[in-house]
Amino acid sequence: MRRLWISVSALSALALLGGQLSFAGSTPAAASKPSPPQAYPADSLRALAAPIGLRIGTAVNADQLGVNEAYTKITAEQFSSVTAENVMKWSEVEPTRGTYTWEKADQLVAFAKKNKQLVRGHTLLWHNQLPAWLSSDGNTTTLSDAEVKAVLKRHIFNQMRHFKGDIWQWDVVNEAFDDNGQPRQTIWYKAWGGTGYIADAFRWAREADPKALLFYNDYNLEFTGVKSDAVYALVRSLKAQRVPIDGVGFQGHLSTQYGYPDLQNNLERFAALGLKVALTEVDVRTETKPDAVNTPVNPLAPYAQESYWSRTLQACLAVKACISFTPWGFGDAYSWVPGWFTNPQEGAALIYDEQLNPKGSYDVLQQALTLAAGAPQRSHR
Ligand code: XIL
Repeated sequence: MRRLWISVSALSALALLGGQLSFAGSTPAAASKPSPPQAYPADSLRALAAPIGLRIGTAVNADQLGVNEAYTKITAEQFSSVTAENVMKWSEVEPTRGTYTWEKADQLVAFAKKNKQLVRGHTLLWHNQLPAWLSSDGNTTTLSDAEVKAVLKRHIFNQMRHFKGDIWQWDVVNEAFDDNGQPRQTIWYKAWGGTGYIADAFRWAREADPKALLFYNDYNLEFTGVKSDAVYALVRSLKAQRVPIDGVGFQGHLSTQYGYPDLQNNLERFAALGLKVALTEVDVRTETKPDAVNTPVNPLAPYAQESYWSRTLQACLAVKACISFTPWGFGDAYSWVPGWFTNPQEGAALIYDEQLNPKGSYDVLQQALTLAAGAPQRSHR
């Protein structure tokens, strides 16, 4: 990857010539004045996506941020949105009942402000990574149904009010459906005796922070099929009941062992319900060597991965309602994939290698964004 640093005034000149590039502070008038250089490279993902109002995000590993210099620099320079990979999850913020630990999440929000990034809040209601006092498996709890309802309401209000005004999009409900398109039989489902908890969660969330965009987030919505259809039916019915939902997050955990999904069609049909859509957790894994988990078994696999990355970003670019594109981290050394997908072993799923050098998959994202100057301008509201 070539590094290209250009100043705001040079960008302004480009904006005048091309009529497409427009950066904050790069009004034509600014072209004549000397301006400080941008804090991030002009060929960074965030800079290339800015002219069409698309945010490029990343999940952030709190153990690396501010500790690992190269990791921290890439996080700041390349991305215009951040998601906490773990530190906003319930088990992290309330490990002991009634005692909140916000430090790590607060540090991420402060980092985002400093670097002019928006924050995706992830996640308020899920069946995984719950504190032990609430549930060890997401399906069973020692609390009564009435207590489960009360703690969820309290959690949504406490967490959203803590971050009020600082979160752009909240994943209010995460992964409520299983792979067969059935509602998961979680502690939430059981306490409510059905999926009514979803509408309640969105209503509480709107009340707690009326300015945040409220998302339902799930995986495999990219593929038309029973699961995508079930979530489509759910959000359509939520809209019909005037439940305050603003968007649907397509996680985008893809693997080259499956065919490429009809993602754009699915983004479009959800958007046609009057919802924003977003790619929220993209990674493209492939089969790798058990003793070298980020080395593909097939030396040609990186070409397939590059194609998947490019097509996924292009699908988002083609749909005006798609307001952000977030890979689930950027460096293969920190990806959740090798630890999670072990049969067969998969890995090499991100856009930077284990040494934090950009891979071909980074280059194709740059290319897609460079060619996207004419893509529809996004609006966040
Ligand atoms: C994953 C994290 O990346 C891991 O570090 C953690 O151990 C488990 O959770 N869908 C989601 C994310 O919504 O929160 C998950 O993140 C990946 C799947």
